Amino acid sequence: MELCGPRAGGRGLRRQLIRLIVVSNRIAGAGGKSAAAGGLAVALRQALTGRDGVWLGWSGAVSEAPADEPVVKMVDGVAHATLDLTPADRREYYAGFANRVLWPTMHYRVGLTQFSRVDYEGYRRVNRRFAAAIARMARPKDLIWVHDYHLIPVAAELRALGVTNRIGYFHHIPWPPIEVLGVLPGVGQLIEAMTAYDLVGVQTAVDEGNFIRALLQGGRVSRVGRASFSAGGRTCRVRAFPIGVDPGAVEREAASPAGRRMSSAMRRSVGGRKLVVGVDRLDYSKGIAPRIEAFGEFLSLHPEWRRKVTYVQIASPSRTDVREYRDVGNRVDEAVSRVNSHLGEPDWAPIRLVKKAYPYAAICGLYRVADAALVTPMRDGMNLVAKEFVAAQTQDDPGALILSRFAGAAFRMREALIVNPFDSLDMVEALRAALEMPLEERRRRWMALRADIGLRDIHWWTQTYLRALTRAR
Ligand code: G6P
Repeated sequence: MELCGPRAGGRGLRRQLIRLIVVSNRIAGAGGKSAAAGGLAVALRQALTGRDGVWLGWSGAVSEAPADEPVVKMVDGVAHATLDLTPADRREYYAGFANRVLWPTMHYRVGLTQFSRVDYEGYRRVNRRFAAAIARMARPKDLIWVHDYHLIPVAAELRALGVTNRIGYFHHIPWPPIEVLGVLPGVGQLIEAMTAYDLVGVQTAVDEGNFIRALLQGGRVSRVGRASFSAGGRTCRVRAFPIGVDPGAVEREAASPAGRRMSSAMRRSVGGRKLVVGVDRLDYSKGIAPRIEAFGEFLSLHPEWRRKVTYVQIASPSRTDVREYRDVGNRVDEAVSRVNSHLGEPDWAPIRLVKKAYPYAAICGLYRVADAALVTPMRDGMNLVAKEFVAAQTQDDPGALILSRFAGAAFRMREALIVNPFDSLDMVEALRAALEMPLEERRRRWMALRADIGLRDIHWWTQTYLRALTRAR
């Protein structure tokens, strides 16, 4: 196919043949967000690099009267088309329905879900605006690939506007069982909206099973294959596509001057101690406070490790306009202060907490020199930190990965030390095993993990998904 990509410059987009329109709420680099802000942004940048296409999303800015037409500019060879949100959009769609309702529910935290009709209406309104912008720029053969829970109704809105293109959706976060999701008022509408997609991608086989059960219980589809459903005269397919990373890029970042600066600064600053790292968005789903408590328990139960290990937790602030996110920040502060004040010494703080986002290279440099990583979310769609940590490590002296069984990554990363993050003793035991693991065993585990992330990398993910979407009809 000889379709060409968009040129920068507003309405010019309409006249061009566009191969791939990627749509997501967050665009890497927009709104001053660094790459460390989230795995999705990093993955999509890599998916679009070197392809003809455009990436449409929120500019990160809020304005009273945003234009309907997106602003288009080229960023590192990728055309970005961005829309501003109004203050009400941000409050109702982003902070409200997306992050106070869908995020907790999809992460099995129904107790945190705060539904409001106003927020739901705001969510629908912004999805209509996104759909209208896509409809104006789409050419008949373009593939449209929508990402994540902020934008579930986009395809249904596009169909209502008469768009017949192939439209795919990828759900980056968990899809919980209908018994959990069912608490949402109006859930039937959301599930039905999913059938407007030709292809729904999820992270794991469990998410796929949960999604299929939700569709079947919704009652408005008929099953035409194991994972294909017909609804409204169209067919919607579901399949798991576990997202990966770009291991080569991680290696390059770790070896870059900024990566090496971070590696040597860390080594110098911990001296001869072992270094354990955690890198997360400051989010309750990541289990940062329980992990810190478990680290304290480890030092209490294994006093021989005191002064011999330092745990560095990077927590990048996230969604601070949502109360639960401010609360989790306070809980993490309290946990760190408890452990450091009870178990630390004047010349040694067991935990260093930094609430900042760092450039990707610095994070990769940190991973490279760590002896162990704690990746222990209470629930996570995939978790790319686990994969990036493995990619940044080297064969001569690889560190050990402690990974929650409730992260999608645990499905394939079986050579990690798999833990239940609700069980602090399990984490204590894993920390001991990680820090005492002989070099040979660390190498054996690392080689198996590294081989798999190389096989199922970000390029595999993009190509496999887009091939399936192209063949979806
Ligand atoms: C997760 C979500 C993404 C989101 C990212 C950062 O990775 O799956 O959709 O972009 O978190 O969160 P934020 O609210 O800052 O976009």
